[in-house]
Amino acid sequence: MARRYQEFSWREARGRSDAHEELSARIGEDAELCDLLSGSLPAGNKQQPNLLLAAVRHLDGPHAELGPRGESAYGRWREWTIRHWDEVRAVIMQRATQTNEPGRCATLLPLLARLPQPLALLEVGASAGLCLHPDRYRYRYEHDHAYGDGNGGGYDGDGTYGHEVGAPGSPVVLGCRTDWAPGELPGRLPEVVWRAGIDLDPLDPVAEPEDLRWLRALVWPGEEERAARLSAAVDAVRAVPRPRIVRGDLIEELPALAAEAPPGATLVIFHSAVLSYLPPARREEFARLVRTLLDGRAGGGHWIANEHHSALPWLPAPEPRPARPDDTLQLTLALDGRPVARTGPHGQSLHRL
Ligand SMILES: C[S@@+](CC[C@H](N)C(=O)[O-])C[C@H]1O[C@@H](n2cnc3c(N)ncnc32)[C@H](O)[C@@H]1O
Repeated sequence: MARRYQEFSWREARGRSDAHEELSARIGEDAELCDLLSGSLPAGNKQQPNLLLAAVRHLDGPHAELGPRGESAYGRWREWTIRHWDEVRAVIMQRATQTNEPGRCATLLPLLARLPQPLALLEVGASAGLCLHPDRYRYRYEHDHAYGDGNGGGYDGDGTYGHEVGAPGSPVVLGCRTDWAPGELPGRLPEVVWRAGIDLDPLDPVAEPEDLRWLRALVWPGEEERAARLSAAVDAVRAVPRPRIVRGDLIEELPALAAEAPPGATLVIFHSAVLSYLPPARREEFARLVRTLLDGRAGGGHWIANEHHSALPWLPAPEPRPARPDDTLQLTLALDGRPVARTGPHGQSLHRL
């Protein structure tokens, strides 16, 4: 347990959240607390450091926003956590680590917009379903290099290219840096006529305030931009019909749900940051199932994957590039099993492969 927290501290939290880096490092040195955790939580996912840290934030434990700073602040966090252990444990047992990052729509949109319209969207591992509303957000693509197409985009003062598209008046503006040429970026939003999802544990942040609080607790201290994006996306979809999200396993539930997609629309089965939750053999099984379902559908359909390349073993690994700090976290965007781009883990960038 101690090693798990220490590794979480330097491998995952460092560079992303000072608060979580410090807190998990201190837990990793706290033999008594580690004994409590390993003695009262079942082995496996329930022992994930991220789950404990989010549970304490969810319950408004001390320093929920900032995390401990120093020895005595850690002492207060630890004392509170042990005193409220039954409640903390109940949250851990009830919940799972499942963020929902609407920012990823910025990397999906250019592919969705170029498919034959209208679309029937089916997302597996949909969490709260915020990525099922790509037509309800606004997007700002910023080019690394200067391009001009005289078509809705323009040069900014600093020489970068800005291309905006999306729902007018949306409270969400998703920014994305890209090297895709303006002509490859969408000029308008896709037309979505059907949307549905599957998740082991669907969340409904619009109807269930506790679900929204849980999603917020999962955003790490120091990632205020993500927290603001999450709230804005929930506001953007508050008044629209909520997509049906079937509770269950993505392989078991997929055939029946895909069969419900209206025949006149292009069925798009998509997923982002989901397949790493599956054992490798299930990933292959899922890929075969998607191909079979789309091949068997009159008029076909498309498959969009936005996953870490290690979860897409049937694709060649991306070529190594000069290391950048966030490179190991980048996702691979693939259309119908063909890799097309490398994307930022939260949708903040889209670069050709
Ligand atoms: C990291 S979240 C990503 C959510 C969303 N796709 C996004 O990009 O924001 C992964 C989601 O996959 C779901 N999940 C994991 N394994 C699953 C399975 N076997 N069947 C259905 N959903 C699953 C989790 O419950 C979680 O909501």
